[in-house]
Amino acid sequence: MEKRFYVTTPIYYVNAEPHIGHAYTTIVADFVNRLYKMRGYETFFLTGTDEHGDKIVKAAMQNNANPQEYTDKISAIFKKQWQSMGLEFNDFIRTTEERHKKVVQYVLQKVYDNGDIYFGSYGGFYCFGCERYFTEKEMVDGKCPDHQKPLEFIKEDNYFFKMSKYQQWLIDYINEHPDFIRPERYKNEVLAMLEGEALEDLCISRPRVRLSWGIPLPFDNNFVTYVWFDALINYISAIGYPDSNLFKKFWPVSNHIIAKDIVKPHGVFWPTMLKAAGIEPYQHLNVHGYWNMEAAKMSKSLGNVVTPSQLLEKYGNDEIRYFFLREMTFGLDAKFSEEAIVNRINYDLANDLGNLINRTFNMVNKYCDAKVPSFHDDSPAGKTDMQKALDDAMNHYFDYIDAFQFNLALERLWDFIRYCNKYIDEHKPWQLAKEGNTRQLQSLLRNLLEGIYAIAYLLAPVCITKSPVIINALKAPVQYPVEQLVKLSALTEGSIIDNPGILFPRLEKENDKAPQKTKKEEKPMEESEGLIDIKDFMKVELRIAKVLQAQAVEGSSKLIELQIDTGKDTRTIVAGLAPHYTPEYLVGKKIIVVANLKPATLFKRTSHGMLLAAKLSKDDKPILIEVNDTVPVGAVLS
Ligand code: ME8
Ligand code: MG
Repeated sequence: MEKRFYVTTPIYYVNAEPHIGHAYTTIVADFVNRLYKMRGYETFFLTGTDEHGDKIVKAAMQNNANPQEYTDKISAIFKKQWQSMGLEFNDFIRTTEERHKKVVQYVLQKVYDNGDIYFGSYGGFYCFGCERYFTEKEMVDGKCPDHQKPLEFIKEDNYFFKMSKYQQWLIDYINEHPDFIRPERYKNEVLAMLEGEALEDLCISRPRVRLSWGIPLPFDNNFVTYVWFDALINYISAIGYPDSNLFKKFWPVSNHIIAKDIVKPHGVFWPTMLKAAGIEPYQHLNVHGYWNMEAAKMSKSLGNVVTPSQLLEKYGNDEIRYFFLREMTFGLDAKFSEEAIVNRINYDLANDLGNLINRTFNMVNKYCDAKVPSFHDDSPAGKTDMQKALDDAMNHYFDYIDAFQFNLALERLWDFIRYCNKYIDEHKPWQLAKEGNTRQLQSLLRNLLEGIYAIAYLLAPVCITKSPVIINALKAPVQYPVEQLVKLSALTEGSIIDNPGILFPRLEKENDKAPQKTKKEEKPMEESEGLIDIKDFMKVELRIAKVLQAQAVEGSSKLIELQIDTGKDTRTIVAGLAPHYTPEYLVGKKIIVVANLKPATLFKRTSHGMLLAAKLSKDDKPILIEVNDTVPVGAVLS
């Protein structure tokens, strides 16, 4: 099959300005688009604005503007917002554009000529937020569960699309194409809508006397097109349906991205409309959950909105993209909090990625005069293992992205980042330098630089600003065949690397700021009544470790010998826990150890570190400090 990919976002209503919910979907689309491009696909990325219908007219009136002026203004704000975030959409469609209106009328006429549109009368409960009728089953206490506003009863003579005619076809189609709608929960949701009860026909017009802000029906000028029948068609009007080359190239590989609020129009209305118009269904509908503030969905109607500009300014573009993609499990709701952003920045970006880059670049400066060192076949420094780790991470990365599971994709890439950090800890380049083992040292640093290049390259669709900085600093190719990254041989020997600086500075949490009394910290220890400087505390390396084995030390009534995994090594420690704890109890427990303590010998056993236990008084029974399972082995307390 041709390597092509077409991705769309919903076209957003212009009744208010963009918020982070809209930003999320648009960033996801930009990310997958870049990712497919990176893999050599020909891609097309479409976004835009939805500008007709009742609620736009109401919003314009509230702003004392006519609908045209108002939609021009807000649509431009959306477009500018996405541009300022560096989003590389190929087209931005507005439903008030002539090119769109033409196609909507063409499709309507076609469906009408096929006999699938009829005139009738209907009364039902309508949500103006969703711009659609709700069935009895869908409403909660007479309200739309999303907008939490009472539904209005509307009865009108209108045109109807024979949606019910395609009910069974759609059920069969979904069953035959299990990933047509994904993740699975939304496929099931759509099937439940279709299987539970007879599908009603879709009212697709509004009388012009009541609402004139819409596209006139081609076969009856007294009516305008219902906003969803109009809006959904953007996905094909923008790529020149019916006969442009773009349409032929990209429609078969169309991927819609939406949130769960608009599953029904996309999962039920749209495929049946396409079927009636004689157009193939889209390839995938990809549905994500909501970003929630506390417990409620963030939405303009609920007034609890965070703007994308505020966030970007505070945390940076790459950081927010990473947070969005890593924090939300695509398909499920996620809680939005700035604390979660700070954690992602500090742990994943500053700690794991930032440290890897800083450590490596510093060593290359120090040991190789900032030149990309040679790799020596006779001293490979574990290159094959690193290649294996990278290959594994990359395969998973792409597979998860194909399945729209971005958090898992990034987790796997981070496995490789952690692998590289561990590789430094285990191979101890500083020791090789001391021993004068230059060939091994050079190979090792070369492997690391190549590893960092692969990471930066794979991460470029997320870190659109900082990946290029890393790649530049490495003097590495900007374009490179992805499948060759695993060779770890992209860099040019001898080229001088630049200092990329601190790319991802650690952030302080808001509530960490208070105790920052710098004056006091500068005082020597004696003067501050037994207080120690934060720098002294930071010298102690406290790590989360897991007990692998435990046994009583022969000849001692107190000591137990433990084998532990500290995340960077496996080592022995000896602890005075008997007779309060049995060795069996200890195996598998997660504990805190002081990892950089000088070794001590007790009963002929050497303890490489000390575990933390608590006592009320010196002779009291020690209570082991156990750590729950959410804290990973190897994590460092700070
Ligand atoms: O529905 N969490 O436009 P809309 C995650 N015009 N995503 C969110 C979100 C949140 N809290 N809030 C909004 C419309 N979104 C129609 C679409 S398409 C032919 C017509 C995102 O302005 C998400 O993508 O109400 C959701 O589906 C979309 O914005 C709704 O945007
Ligand atoms: Mg909405």
